[in-house]
Amino acid sequence: MNLWFFILLENPLSMDPNLWAEFAQNYDEKIYSVTRFSKNRDYLLERVPHGRILNLGTGPTPYLNQDLLSRGDKVVASDYCAGMLAEAQRLFTADGLNFVLSDARQETPWKGIFDGVVSINVILPETQDQVAKMLNYVYESLNVGGTFVGLFMSFEYINMLNNTPDFPADEELDFENLRVHDTTGWQCAQSKQSLSEHLEKAKFFNFNIETIHYDSPEELESFLSLYKVSLEKYPCEQHVAVARK
Ligand SMILES: C[S@@+](CC[C@H](N)C(=O)[O-])C[C@H]1O[C@@H](n2cnc3c(N)ncnc32)[C@H](O)[C@@H]1O
Repeated sequence: MNLWFFILLENPLSMDPNLWAEFAQNYDEKIYSVTRFSKNRDYLLERVPHGRILNLGTGPTPYLNQDLLSRGDKVVASDYCAGMLAEAQRLFTADGLNFVLSDARQETPWKGIFDGVVSINVILPETQDQVAKMLNYVYESLNVGGTFVGLFMSFEYINMLNNTPDFPADEELDFENLRVHDTTGWQCAQSKQSLSEHLEKAKFFNFNIETIHYDSPEELESFLSLYKVSLEKYPCEQHVAVARK
């Protein structure tokens, strides 16, 4: 695995859902998991409304679904990788939580029914056209007044690391399409500007783009033990879109 595989946080092998399957078991031991840390879940859930929630690209871990259920929400946890869903179900099931196989690059099976859609490091496909399709899926799934909370790879952060002389990152970046290349191929990141343009194009009524930092001692320790790299001087950050339909 090369360094970027790790630094890009749960970075995607987005073309073929089966490529995700190898990460389904012991996910936390292979990939930095944003939602394993309660401070990140608290941050996200403050922004997700109560009600019917779609956890798009749920992956195998139970943390976010458990917190949503404990708030009294009804949750649909979707993923396009059957292996991820199987592991998620093996680890945790409960009343009020339904798992559904669905590819967010296609048409949504839910039109206008969710109060909130949350997607944590999921909208990272191979092309920006596919990003637009996935955001359209999110938009169409929400009811009017519903809120999307999404985490996106930050192109600015990756570029900054790439240009940091004392940091061992040297990855090919596609500045025209805001993509990053690693052994699995091209993956879309976002700048604040490109994310704004995507959200506007998807017709969200209003939106903010915030920044989340993974800088607690526990998170820095997690990066170090998983990837053998210290991010103390350059704590990882991502873009958070909070957008209303
Ligand atoms: C990096 S994991 C993140 C899992 C989870 N959201 C988390 O933060 O722990 C990305 C997940 O998104 C799913 N995914 C990627 N592209 C998708 C798509 N087009 N439709 C649905 N799920 C997708 C993958 O199968 C994988 O489970």
